[in-house]
Amino acid sequence: MLRLLHELKEEVDHLKELTQETQVTLLEAMLDGSKVGTIVTDPSQQDNPIIYTNRTFIEMTGYTQQEVIGKNCRFLQGPETDKEDIEKMRKAIAAEEAITLTLRNYRKDGSPFWNRLAIEPVQIEDKLYFIGTQTDITLERSQQQAIMANEDEIEKLMLPILSIQENVATVALVGTMNLQRFETLKVKICEYVQEHRIEHAIIDITGLSWNEKSPLYWFQQIYEALRIMGSNLYVTGISPAAAQQFADDLDRNSQLITFSTIERALSFITQKTTGENHFS
Ligand SMILES: Cc1cc2nc3c(=O)[nH]c(=O)nc-3n(C[C@H](O)[C@H](O)[C@H](O)COP(=O)(O)O)c2cc1C
Repeated sequence: MLRLLHELKEEVDHLKELTQETQVTLLEAMLDGSKVGTIVTDPSQQDNPIIYTNRTFIEMTGYTQQEVIGKNCRFLQGPETDKEDIEKMRKAIAAEEAITLTLRNYRKDGSPFWNRLAIEPVQIEDKLYFIGTQTDITLERSQQQAIMANEDEIEKLMLPILSIQENVATVALVGTMNLQRFETLKVKICEYVQEHRIEHAIIDITGLSWNEKSPLYWFQQIYEALRIMGSNLYVTGISPAAAQQFADDLDRNSQLITFSTIERALSFITQKTTGENHFS
């Protein structure tokens, strides 16, 4: 918004050669043609009322000029306006500081919109004013939310974690693994293990292609994280030849156990748990 004001000021400097009346008319036309709502308030008057609005603000909110001039801008607020944001604005205005935030506001007909609002104090000939610029970003926000929901969905498809037995979860990785996907896997699998009290987690990499040199080195990190949480990790879907190469990559002391198939891992887990029960 500051940039907008600076641009306007530059334009005003060019306009100075024109008569004052022409200057005002041109400036108003510029503000009215802008996509951004603009208002000016006068803090020297009771309750810091609006003394100017451009046409965009009027179109954006649905109020008439007469209805808003002389009023404090809080008439745009409603049930879903964040109380903390109102408090932040109150404090910034009292301290004569600039503030930018995105608020839930309401038009005259009651319909809500997301208002990207910037408030700036301006000193003109020793008198303080506030300039507020408002942009309706409802559309951008709903598009952003749709993208985020989509990304969540894609993430779930890329990391389908399933509980296949009590205490046992598997995740079958397909596609290409990269560092970012691996980091997401690490977080998701730890969350899942904690939430579902999983004791044995199996990562199957049969359908995975790998760009990096040492995938098992990465899985070692998940192994360590799960070990701290009291759970075990097994990696399946490894061919004997690959297992040999991975063995070379891994730390000699690594306890990470690999199997060729999920079934083999499961029978190992079953033996291990019945063995443990037998001992106890
Ligand atoms: C220049 C200016 C523009 C403002 N624009 C808005 C706005 O678009 N939407 C809004 O909810 N509040 C806006 N406000 C904030 C309210 O007018 C008011 O300052 C805020 O609600 C905190 O004060 P209160 O706790 O007394 O209500 C604006 C304030 C100023 C000074």
